Amino acid sequence: MGPLTLGLAMARQSADTVCADASQAHPALRDFLSSAYFPVIQSSSMKKIEAIIRPFKLEDVKIALVTAGIVGMTVTEVRGFGRQKGQVERYRGSEFTVEFLQKLKLEIVVDDDRVDTVINAIQEAARTGEIGDGKIFITSVDSVLRIRTGDRDSSAI
Ligand SMILES: Nc1ncnc2c1ncn2[C@@H]1O[C@H](COP(=O)(O)OP(=O)(O)OP(=O)(O)O)[C@@H](O)[C@H]1O
Ligand SMILES: [Mg+2]
Repeated sequence: MGPLTLGLAMARQSADTVCADASQAHPALRDFLSSAYFPVIQSSSMKKIEAIIRPFKLEDVKIALVTAGIVGMTVTEVRGFGRQKGQVERYRGSEFTVEFLQKLKLEIVVDDDRVDTVINAIQEAARTGEIGDGKIFITSVDSVLRIRTGDRDSSAI
């Protein structure tokens, strides 16, 4: 695709709609937008899913995720609090105390089209229905590199 065709593609694109999500753009346009001229518009096609879960739910969540097809994940022991400030029972502590509770943090990087499957699997397996079941955060990932081979991005997941 030459500069003229690219220019036409861009004109058509901007005439249709303001393209807020660069991943929806024509591939050539996307490459162009990702180039040094438009570093700010660069968009990623991978997401990191960070899930804070109850420690005893790890095995169930792991099985659900492997069944859903994920090929890698990281688990870290963390401590945290949410809206109840770590208070598990009302009579414990004064209303000013904040307690950290033991949780596990899972980190899973997947292609965009796998996100819904993964978060549904986590929610189903980690939920008890009681306060403190945890939370899922989703962020964009710019790049991934497999150290052994040098594979990049989707090929490196
Ligand atoms: N806004 C937040 N930012 C970072 N971590 C959070 C946040 N909210 C919750 N967490 C983490 O998630 C853990 C579990 O949170 P929790 O499930 O209690 O959230 P909640 O919003 O209080 O919901 P619920 O009312 O169901 O308890 C916390 O211990 C903390 O580690
Ligand atoms: Mg809570």
